[in-house]
Amino acid sequence: MSDQPKTAPRALFISFEGTEGCGKSTQMRILTDRLRADGFTVVENQEPGGTAIGMQVRHVLLDPENAEMAPMAELLLMFASRTQAAAQIVVPALERGDIVISDRFTDSTLAYQGEGRGLGFETVLKEHKLALGELFPDVTICVDIDVEEGLARAHRRNQGTLAGLSEERLDRQSLAFHNRVREGYRKIAALEPRRFRMVDGSGSIDAVAERVWAEIAPHLRPVPA
Ligand code: TMP
Repeated sequence: MSDQPKTAPRALFISFEGTEGCGKSTQMRILTDRLRADGFTVVENQEPGGTAIGMQVRHVLLDPENAEMAPMAELLLMFASRTQAAAQIVVPALERGDIVISDRFTDSTLAYQGEGRGLGFETVLKEHKLALGELFPDVTICVDIDVEEGLARAHRRNQGTLAGLSEERLDRQSLAFHNRVREGYRKIAALEPRRFRMVDGSGSIDAVAERVWAEIAPHLRPVPA
């Protein structure tokens, strides 16, 4: 998979990024519904996860029992899930000319493992090259909110889940870790300002959705009548 994937003319690869509890899943849902209502075929992906194999990897990654996981093992498992999703979901959809919306992609690994865990961008990009070649999103929306506010939201959400015990391993990291993750995202934005779009995640859901739409609309090629 080391070559540039062949993408059909109307294909578009969008990813969503952000720190814990930033609201990206809600925004992804709104964007997906809007695009489908406009006649686009949208294929969704989630990282880690996305495929049946990826979901098994996600379970290992997020299980609080796995507190001793080495940072490099974490990085490689993120790429294991992503490589499977690329082969099974992302590349086939782009070849068909569909729109792919991915809940996280390699920018998460840059921010969380590269910056948060301190493995560095270079290590992450080397692994990306090996596993995924040139496959990067055309446009990335990073929903930016205050880290403490997002963590409080994520904790409330996790407490509402089955048995109330599913606070995930990565949610449990320190505030300093999550602040480094946000810093990682800011670094990517500085390196790739055209692709990687920081969107203010404060205010109402509708207000944020309009900001997201303003970033995505210029990339769309109309569906033929
Ligand atoms: P989610 O809560 O947005 O589904 O993401 C799952 C967790 O995995 C979240 O804490 C971010 C983390 N993560 C990484 O640390 N590195 C990655 O490459 C990805 C995709 C997710």
